[in-house]
Amino acid sequence: MTGTMIRAICIVAGLAAGAGLQAAEPSLVPRPASDRPASGSFIVSAATPVEASAQDKAATDAAQRFLGLMQESGALPLKTGSGANAIRFVTDKKITGAEAYRLTVSPSGVTVSASHPAGLFYGAVSVWQLLTAAPGNGPVTLEARTIDDAPRFAWRGLLLDSARHFQSPAYIKQFIDWMAALKLNVFHWHLTDDEGWRLEIKHYPKLTAIGAWSVPAGQAAAADIDPATGKPRRHGGFYTQDQVREIVAYAAARHITIVPEIEMPGHATAAIAAYPELGSAPIALDGASPDWGVLFNIYNVDDKTFTFLETVLTEVMDLFPGRYIHVGGDEAVKKQWRDSPAIQARIKQLGLKNEDELQAWFVRRIEAFLTRHGRRLVGWDEILQGGIAPHATVMSWRGIDGALTAAHQGHDTILAPAPDLYFDNRQSEAPGEPPGRGKVISLESVYEFNPAPGSLSPEEQRHILGAQANLFTEHVRTEANASRMAYPRAAAFAEMVWTPTARMDWTDFSARLPAERARYARLGLQDDQPAPKADPRRLYSQELKLCAPSNNPLVLEDDAPIEGERAKFLVDIANPCWQLPQADLSAPVALTATVGQVPYNFQFGDDPVDYRPRPPHSPEGELEVRADSCDGDPIATLPLAPAAGNFATTRLTATLPARPGRHDLCFTFTSKGRDPLWAIDWITLDPAKP
Ligand code: ACM
Repeated sequence: MTGTMIRAICIVAGLAAGAGLQAAEPSLVPRPASDRPASGSFIVSAATPVEASAQDKAATDAAQRFLGLMQESGALPLKTGSGANAIRFVTDKKITGAEAYRLTVSPSGVTVSASHPAGLFYGAVSVWQLLTAAPGNGPVTLEARTIDDAPRFAWRGLLLDSARHFQSPAYIKQFIDWMAALKLNVFHWHLTDDEGWRLEIKHYPKLTAIGAWSVPAGQAAAADIDPATGKPRRHGGFYTQDQVREIVAYAAARHITIVPEIEMPGHATAAIAAYPELGSAPIALDGASPDWGVLFNIYNVDDKTFTFLETVLTEVMDLFPGRYIHVGGDEAVKKQWRDSPAIQARIKQLGLKNEDELQAWFVRRIEAFLTRHGRRLVGWDEILQGGIAPHATVMSWRGIDGALTAAHQGHDTILAPAPDLYFDNRQSEAPGEPPGRGKVISLESVYEFNPAPGSLSPEEQRHILGAQANLFTEHVRTEANASRMAYPRAAAFAEMVWTPTARMDWTDFSARLPAERARYARLGLQDDQPAPKADPRRLYSQELKLCAPSNNPLVLEDDAPIEGERAKFLVDIANPCWQLPQADLSAPVALTATVGQVPYNFQFGDDPVDYRPRPPHSPEGELEVRADSCDGDPIATLPLAPAAGNFATTRLTATLPARPGRHDLCFTFTSKGRDPLWAIDWITLDPAKP
């Protein structure tokens, strides 16, 4: 038996015993840089005082946050005090590194020391983890040890997209709490996009009056009439400046910097819907876009548009005191710039070669503005195209190539590559996973991500500030699902960006995870635990094979019912086609197929997806089943007429005729157009009744 396995068993045994006794090996996540056991132990009980000198503000702040965490997590009720045998927080200038701390447990008490407030805070988090490794709120025995800890990377970020789906301010604070418990320190807040403008801007009230609201696509939402208006209910929301100030302070108290993202020049539909004069082409929307993907709307380059953006950024800088302001820059489709005579004339006048150079000029102009105000611009890796702005930091999302280029050019960079660190991807093929992108990004794959590309020289490596995991929310409608997409993967991510490579070990992490997840439960965080299948006979779309390798697999949520649990469909939106390998057709088979329809509300910018469904044989279309191939004559045709008027899922049945042996089954739909998009929820195959 390996040492790791023994530790795992000790932890599980400790949990099961529930005696409040600490297992021998602490279950800290992220694993500290160094942990040296010593002899003896210390029992922390409700009588143990928590001590910090009143003259030492950083220490008293850390002590208070520690007590807050203990209380919020229902752990041992501790109080401030002083005396021998205490938990002490002390500023110690001898500890080097702003985020470093030393945590010693000796028979006479626990001491957290650090030279800076962040280090003291991380020490507080570690003591809290030591005291919550097992359930309950009784006394805890801590084995003596010295932990010397500091992070590997300075930028340990999570992005939450509040534009595609809005989360409440209360949820944002919880999200920040959960990040802080993992010593993550950058909350990248994606606040504006085509689908919503979420930040109150005093100068431009229509940004939120218009741009924060939309009617979701699809028949179900169109039929959901709001009695107050007699029109389809609008969804959305925004954060007032007062709420933002509170959230920023809340994050700062937890040593988390919020990096706000204000997207430009693309992903700007919500803003342009509110103020059409900002756009490069006419727009016909009275709210944010109900469509996902890469839209054509892009800001124009009039001086008035820069006045708008600079005014917005002035309010943004007033709200967010951190050094970095993210201005997007990704996926700006240039068609409207190409088609506009005024913008073409401007390109000429500026002596630029093309639209990419115009975007680079745009970003440089914004960067100069931010630099004048003492801030740093961050943008997605598209800001490298056409020449990067002088002080810009590159967030590499199209793989890590952008980071490599940026580092070669002497620019700071953050690794946030899709799909490896995109938490909108599902975590497993289990049908109980929340909706999202369809690639499987497992907990282990996040843990094993390499944040130090070997092709960079040591000097270039220094430009890698760190890494970031991104949770975009096109398909993450609920806060509960946002939590499940982010956790526990954020724990694997946190260890990857904090812990020195030599101390990382997947098996060891896995052994610490149960205690970590038990802490989440204490903090009210329901992480991802896909429910087992209610009926094992059902084969859900997530368990079927897509017919061809796909660039666009999505796990789409049904648009109905409006309230309650919705079906989820694994679907390739460029080729909706599912296969069930090796079905036994030696006797007639009763097929039940549960199908649903979702709006086809995807835009693809300059790279259109040319999906055309097979033509229907009846007005409502059909589900067709073929054997051995996806071409040729179907062996069964199931009319969609009974499903067409049902916004949620519908069960269809057919008998598949006998043919010798096993056969791959192929499922496709016929329909008049691609909207709505039909999809399989689940199927069962049973012997047909004679
Ligand atoms: C991105 O995912 N478009 C940054």
